[in-house]
Amino acid sequence: MITPQSIEQIKNRIDIIEVLGDYIKLKKRGSNYLGLCPFHNEKSPSFTVSPAKELYKCFGCGKSGNTITFLMEHDKLSYVEALRWLANRFNIEIEETEQTQEQKQFVQTADSLYIINNFSQQFFNTQLFDTEEGQDIALSYLKERGFREEIIKKFQIGFNPSSRDTLASALIKNQFNKELLPKTGLVIAKADGEFVDNYKGRIIFPIHSTTGKTIGFGARVIGKADKAPKYINTPENEIYSKSKVLYGAYFARLAIDKADECLLVEGYTDVVSLHQAGIENVVASGGTSLTVDQLRLIKKYTNNLTIIYDGDAAGIKAALRGLDMALEESLNVRLVLIPDKEDPDSYVNKIGANEFINFINANKKDFIIFQIEMMLKDAGNDVSKKSEVVNTVAETISKINKTEDFTKQQDYIKQCSAILKIDEGGLTNLVNKYKRDKIVKEEKRLPFDDAGNQQQQGIQPEDVLIDNSLLISQDEIVERNVMRTLLESGLKKWDEEKTIAQYIFDELEQFSFESPVYISLFNEYKLMYDKGLEPTAKTFLYHKDENVRNLVISITVFPYELSQKWDEVLEGMNIVNRDNSQQDALMSVNYYKLKKIKKMFEENQQGMEHASFEDQLTQIKIHQHLKEVERAITKLLGTVIIK
Ligand code: GTP
Ligand code: MN
Repeated sequence: MITPQSIEQIKNRIDIIEVLGDYIKLKKRGSNYLGLCPFHNEKSPSFTVSPAKELYKCFGCGKSGNTITFLMEHDKLSYVEALRWLANRFNIEIEETEQTQEQKQFVQTADSLYIINNFSQQFFNTQLFDTEEGQDIALSYLKERGFREEIIKKFQIGFNPSSRDTLASALIKNQFNKELLPKTGLVIAKADGEFVDNYKGRIIFPIHSTTGKTIGFGARVIGKADKAPKYINTPENEIYSKSKVLYGAYFARLAIDKADECLLVEGYTDVVSLHQAGIENVVASGGTSLTVDQLRLIKKYTNNLTIIYDGDAAGIKAALRGLDMALEESLNVRLVLIPDKEDPDSYVNKIGANEFINFINANKKDFIIFQIEMMLKDAGNDVSKKSEVVNTVAETISKINKTEDFTKQQDYIKQCSAILKIDEGGLTNLVNKYKRDKIVKEEKRLPFDDAGNQQQQGIQPEDVLIDNSLLISQDEIVERNVMRTLLESGLKKWDEEKTIAQYIFDELEQFSFESPVYISLFNEYKLMYDKGLEPTAKTFLYHKDENVRNLVISITVFPYELSQKWDEVLEGMNIVNRDNSQQDALMSVNYYKLKKIKKMFEENQQGMEHASFEDQLTQIKIHQHLKEVERAITKLLGTVIIK
């Protein structure tokens, strides 16, 4: 342990320019230094270092931090390693603290727990194979489930007899430290000082560290678990921490390395069964969602994680939870769901090893794509739910943040925008927004940050607009703009004779909106308008139909999504004398018509080849007519035509 004084000394001595200068060519720019970012590929420098603040930040990829985090990130050092590196670099002698009494105690306890566990594991093994109860009840159950002796022995599976203190009395007889015994979870200390077994009548799955030491146990009831919990696990102690362990890692590590892939299942029995079937690159999470520590453990062996879970809703949820973390750890995550209420254990027993492997390979799906498809199915036509999907996906993609994953991120953006039917550029912007948000959050956590001095990059209004326009397809945008114009400026004047609302009604008489919520909003507006009720956006904010409410909110809270583009168009067209709402009405109505006409073109075209001669003639006439209308509108709108 490095003393706090030494750490202080190192921190005081750090010269960020000197250290980072070893890695990057830095040029002075004002009070800062500028260079090419080492964390992503760039041609013009956006990596900025502030000697005054002891901070760096790349305005290209968003990476930021201080000298220590730089070394941790760039050279993959741990915090302590970075400190030692710096001490060495600046010739600082490190003082190490002596182990405190507490630390000594910790190590001693850990050692004792290993010994108790080891003893107990062997004890359970003997009980399983060499006692009548073990053979008749436990071994026969295991065999009935299809586990063969060699696999039972390999995983050191055992049995705790059903009488009250078989293990406890053996432990006492062997003079293990009574105070430590309850920590193992193997026995319970009664009030009168007596020890009784905790895993009575259960099958015992020892849990190993990655070096093969027994650090804990999973104890399963034999047969159905009606009253008692199916499994009892070792409590957290000096050597067992549930969130850091993957069951089977010790037996799987070589196979994972060789296959360059780690299969992850839920249960102990899944691991054992797959091993028995010859599929050895498999570990189990123990039925909970994955932790960062577990992911890092996997990452030591491979970048490819394939999660195999039950296809039920709980299984899927469990599988998806926490997977964003896997992206942050730059793991490639794929997902396979086992069908028909089976789990990997039962499924491999049912269809055999070869079929199982084929099934996995044929069905593994990229986790992000999987997530989108799941959520989209869930969202249906609900606008606000779809917006949630887009945001979730963008946030997920934003977690892929390592330099080496840059192309991977681009790839995802491409694939996902196609699936979501949204603009690729828009999704990129949204992903970047999430990245920025994260950086801001991290910056706030940096102790060096003197607040106020640093420019905050929180959510900007334009992000919200991007966010919003993302949710909608190009088709919907035109409908949306008509609706927005109606709600915002419907009651204003179009000309001396009519209102904008009336203008819209007249112009769009021949057309109809596509989605039901637009149709009902439009019709209701018209109904009220015709009654002289002067409807506005506010009128609909408390509408009984949630979809209508949501639409009105999303349209009017983010009102300007196309206006900026239109400004350019209008400028090009030299339209000057109209007030904004009239421009808006003109543009939205005509873009709407143009889009509709394009659709009609397509529809008209479709039947063309197989139609009768007369029909073809009619279609040609329609075509010509549409062309004329299109020409007129295009002329009105100038040269810019939206896709
Ligand atoms: P079998 O039913 O024997 O095939 O066991 P399994 O490993 O398939 O169990 P299951 O699919 O029900 O649960 C998956 C994992 O969740 C188990 O391996 C345990 O790690 C954990 N688990 C299940 N039930 C319990 C429980 O009651 N208590 C605790 N602590 N963990 C459980
Ligand atoms: Mn099972």
